[in-house]
Amino acid sequence: MNSIEHFIEIGIALSSEKDHGILLEKIIKSAMELSNADGGTIYSISEQGELVFETIINKTLSLHLGGTTTNKINFPPIPILKYGEVNNSALVAIAAHTGKIINIDDVYQCLDYDLSAAKAMDKKTGYKTQSVLTLPMKNHQGDLNGVIQLINAINPTNAKGEIVPFNKETEKLTHALSSLAGVIITNKQLIDEMENLFTAFSQLIASAIDKKSPYTGGHCRRVPLITMMLAKACNEIDYGPLDKFVMNKEDFHELGVAAWLHDCGKVATPEYVMDKAKKLETVFDRIELVNARFEIAARDLYYSKKYAEKQKALLLKDLEADRDFICHANKGGEFFDDDKTQRVYQIAKKYQVTIKGVKQDILNSDEIYNLITKRGTLNDKERRVINGHMDVTVEMLESMPFPKHLKRVPEYACGHHEKMDGTGYPKGLKRDEMSIPARIMGIADVFEALTANDRPYKDPKPLSETLTIMGRMKLGDHLDPDLFDVFIEKEVYLEFARQHLEASQMDDFDITQIPGCEGNKA
Ligand SMILES: [Fe+2]
Ligand SMILES: [Fe+2]
Repeated sequence: MNSIEHFIEIGIALSSEKDHGILLEKIIKSAMELSNADGGTIYSISEQGELVFETIINKTLSLHLGGTTTNKINFPPIPILKYGEVNNSALVAIAAHTGKIINIDDVYQCLDYDLSAAKAMDKKTGYKTQSVLTLPMKNHQGDLNGVIQLINAINPTNAKGEIVPFNKETEKLTHALSSLAGVIITNKQLIDEMENLFTAFSQLIASAIDKKSPYTGGHCRRVPLITMMLAKACNEIDYGPLDKFVMNKEDFHELGVAAWLHDCGKVATPEYVMDKAKKLETVFDRIELVNARFEIAARDLYYSKKYAEKQKALLLKDLEADRDFICHANKGGEFFDDDKTQRVYQIAKKYQVTIKGVKQDILNSDEIYNLITKRGTLNDKERRVINGHMDVTVEMLESMPFPKHLKRVPEYACGHHEKMDGTGYPKGLKRDEMSIPARIMGIADVFEALTANDRPYKDPKPLSETLTIMGRMKLGDHLDPDLFDVFIEKEVYLEFARQHLEASQMDDFDITQIPGCEGNKA
C-alpha cells in the first residue's frame, strides 16, 4: 500500500469513529504507523486550556495507557500557560501555544528547549528518548484541538531498530494527518454540540409546559424516565415475543428525544382546560357563584310568608343537602351515574332566586352541562381541546426537518394515545401500524398519568389500582399486551415506583391477582 492509500484508509477509519476517546487513540496509532515511531502520546485540550493526556503508547516499554485500555493515566494535565507566559518546560505546551511543529533530532544534543522533563522521565524508566516530533492538531479554522507527540523514529531499513530523526517526509505526512484529525475532531464536536443543543431544547419545551402547568409538567419529565426503563427491559429480554427486539445507543437517544417531546403540543392547550380541577372551573371555580345563589335562595325562603315555620325548617334543611350535593358533584373524580345526573336537573328546576328583581335559575345550562360530566372534571368540549394537544404535537413534529438519526421521533412521540384496537387518537392507528417504541410510550404515558401525585383533580393511585386499570387496558386491547407483560415481569413499574412514588402508593398486592397478569410468578 502506498502512502496515499494508507492515508485514505486512515481518514475513513477516523471519520467513522463516534467515540471521542477511541478516535484519539486511533489518531495516535495512525501517526505512529506513518512515522514508524516507537512511542506516542496524544493530548486533548481541557476547558481550562490544559493539555490532557488521552493515550500513551510505548512499544519498547510495552506501555499502553488510557484510550481503549482500562489503564488509567495518572499524570496531571499540562498547562499551556504558566503565569501568563508559555509553559517552556513542556514541548507540547510550546507547540500548542505557537501552533508550530517542533522536530528535535536528539533530545540530549538539543540546546533550544528545556528538555529536563523528558530526561528525568528517561532516568525513571530506563528508556532513552532521542528523536521527538511534536505536532499541534488544528482544524480548518486554525483552532487547536489537541497535540500529538511522537518519540523515537525507527529506521525501517535497519534490522537493529536504529533510532533516527523524524525526516522531512515524515513530518509532512504526520502534519497532514494531524490536520485531518483536527477537522474530524471539530466535526464531531460540532455534531455533539448540535445534538446537545437539540436535546436541551426538547427538555426546554417540556419545562415550558412545566412552568405553564405544574400538573402536567412533572408528566413531561417523568414519561421519558418510564419510557427508557421499559425500553431497556425490552432490549435486554432474551426470550418471548421481544426476544429479537434490540436497541443501540442511537436508538435510545432517538426515543429519549421523542419522549421529551411527546406532549409538546400542550404548549397550545389553554391552562384553564389543562388544569381544570373542578367541574365548574373556567378561569375560576364557579362554585362560588352557585353557592351565593343557594345563599340567596335560603334567605328568600327564610323571609318567605308562604310557609309555616316547621315546614320552612324542613325546606331549609333540604336546600342545605342539595347545596352539599352540588358542591360534592363539583369535585369530579368518581363516576357520576344517571341518578346523580337526574338529581342535578331536579335541583336546577327546584330553586329559583331573585337577583335585582330578576328571577334566575339556581344553575344555568352551562353549569348543569359541566356538573353532569361522567368522569373527572373535563366536559366533552374540553376533552376535545385536551385531546387536541396531539393534533398540535403531530403538526409541530411532522413539520420539523429531523436528521436521519432522529427521523422516527414524530412516530414515537405521536403514538402514545393510540390504542391497539385502533380506537385511540389522533390517527386511530392499530397495533401493527405502530413501532414497538411508540407502543412503549403508550404504556409509559398511562402509568405516569395514573400514579402522578401532583395533580389537583385526583389523588395518587396506589400501584395495585394502577396495575389493575392497566391490566384491564391490556385485556381490552388498548395497551400492547407483550410490552405490558415485560413491564410487569421485569418489574419496571416497581423500579420507577421505588424512585418516584410516595410510600403510601406502594401497597401490598399479589401480582397474579391483577387482571392480565395471571401468568406471572407471585
Ligand atoms: Fe399526550
Ligand atoms: Fe403524555
